[in-house]
Amino acid sequence: MIVQRVHLPVVRRTAPRGEVPSDPLLDNFARRIRYLRVSVTDRCNYRCTYCMPEELADSLVFHARDAVLTFEELERLVAVFARLGVRKIRLTGGEPTVRRGIVELVRRIAAVPGIEQVVMTTNGHLLPDLAAPLAAAGLGGVNVSLDTLDAARFARLTGRGDLARVLAGIDAAGAAGLRVKTNAVALRHENAAELRALCEHAWSRGATPRFIEHMPMSSGQLYAAEAELSSAQIRAALEAELGPLVPDDGDAAGRDAGPARYWRVAAAADRRVGIISAMTDHFCGDCNRLRLTATGDLHACLGHDDAVGLRDVLRRGGSDDDLIRAIAASVTGKRAGHAFERATGGGGPRKHMIGIGG
Ligand code: 5AD
Ligand code: SF4
Repeated sequence: MIVQRVHLPVVRRTAPRGEVPSDPLLDNFARRIRYLRVSVTDRCNYRCTYCMPEELADSLVFHARDAVLTFEELERLVAVFARLGVRKIRLTGGEPTVRRGIVELVRRIAAVPGIEQVVMTTNGHLLPDLAAPLAAAGLGGVNVSLDTLDAARFARLTGRGDLARVLAGIDAAGAAGLRVKTNAVALRHENAAELRALCEHAWSRGATPRFIEHMPMSSGQLYAAEAELSSAQIRAALEAELGPLVPDDGDAAGRDAGPARYWRVAAAADRRVGIISAMTDHFCGDCNRLRLTATGDLHACLGHDDAVGLRDVLRRGGSDDDLIRAIAASVTGKRAGHAFERATGGGGPRKHMIGIGG
């Protein structure tokens, strides 16, 4: 059997030497990095068909525990990034809530000087118990994956998922005072007829629904062009049921914004919906993000495999300046954009979503 690693980046292992750059988080396309997504584990308690189905997971080796950054290492890196200008941290996975001590980690990261927002992307399975302690530890919001409201479809799409728990988790997050967004990957043969219902569900709980175009990660092996719904198709489907949508980027247009573009129902100002159009619109031009894997590889782009290894710099006793040089090398190498090909599913990275956390 060929054993594939979960992470397949082209990682540069030696940090560059020499001058410490004066503005390490400004890239060659004048994009400023303010937002770091941190994968805290490459493990997940679900097996979503479009991300990490059982068959693919069976062929992979997940990272050993000592390969994963410790809380001390994460805290130190976040402090260095904050010094350089990062203001927002999103914890992702795999599934971040399966990392032991996640509440403590949130507390530590939220306490780093300069960090203004700590948020999380989660499948919601453990939120019924964790939402309140996470909120108390300083978490500001959660993006919960919710692709369907049909229990049988949910179980099939997520492999091991339990819709009732996730819905209870969304309610617990709202009750704990967390800002809640729901994420659905829009798939023609799965949830295309549920877009309105997913919106209504979110709105009824004070949450913001979002739809994501499917991206060809994992060398495109989980992607099917005919299953993809474009953002224009998503919008048209929503408008057919809800009436006209008008652009409403509102506070999401701020400097810490993520990739979603927001719309609202023209007739109802409080009904906003986000669409993440990785494939058909170009949102790379104002990208403000970097991604750190659980093992400390810094990826400047979701769509490419190249990365700079920060764990080795940490573990050989590197100084903050050594870390900053390595970070600057990643930022300098940040590509203009991804190269996903919509028609073929080509052009994407070999790496898996589960290892980089979306
Ligand atoms: N394309 C788009 N979104 C994806 N997600 C997982 N895999 C893909 C993919 N190939 C979503 C998850 C989750 C978020 C982190 O990314 O459903 O909501
Ligand atoms: Fe599903 Fe998210 Fe787990 Fe991937 S990481 S299998 S999308 S729950």
